[in-house]
Amino acid sequence: IHLLPAAGSAPASLEELRAAAHACRACPIGALATQAVCGEGPRAAARMLVGEQPGDQEDLAGRPFVGPAGQLLDRAMAELGWPRESVYLANAVRHFKFELRGKRRMHKTAGQREALACAPWLGHEIDLVQPQALVALGATAARTLLGRSVAVQAERGRWLHERADGRAVLVTLHPSALLRLPEAHRPAAYRQWLADLALARAPVA
Ligand code: URA
Repeated sequence: IHLLPAAGSAPASLEELRAAAHACRACPIGALATQAVCGEGPRAAARMLVGEQPGDQEDLAGRPFVGPAGQLLDRAMAELGWPRESVYLANAVRHFKFELRGKRRMHKTAGQREALACAPWLGHEIDLVQPQALVALGATAARTLLGRSVAVQAERGRWLHERADGRAVLVTLHPSALLRLPEAHRPAAYRQWLADLALARAPVA
């Protein structure tokens, strides 16, 4: 696959970013998705939470985290008394990657090439929102934010100070990882995830 450079000049606003990401064909998945799904939240949110890519429902709605993974994130944030509306929710990859099985669009994990091609959009979003700190939900977001591969279980739940822009990054599980766990393992994993998210909300240490 020949990758074109994703974002040319930096968009001046989130609206401009949305339009430019929508038209992006720097990797092959943009042409198949309904629309680009950019982040949402307050312009000066203290925390930006970053997921992997829109799923089926996000692709149709044009909003991040509205499907099953988003519902679990909503539940966790509600339990922590952390309003979803107070954070900026974004994704590492802007377009839904899927494989057709009959009529169903089955989620396919974005590859490194797609994540790399898409990374400038998240970079522009960080520049525009200027969050104090970043929270990576899962390995794709962690890799995009830290520029290296990350073993989520080994590095989760503490602030990592590695980014050139000085923003600390806290890595934790993607909500979909929790949904995939066998039922018996879920409650303990969920409690640990809540603890990570509580830390992500607290002042950076
Ligand atoms: N999973 C993600 O990583 N992001 C979304 O927006 C939805 C599901």
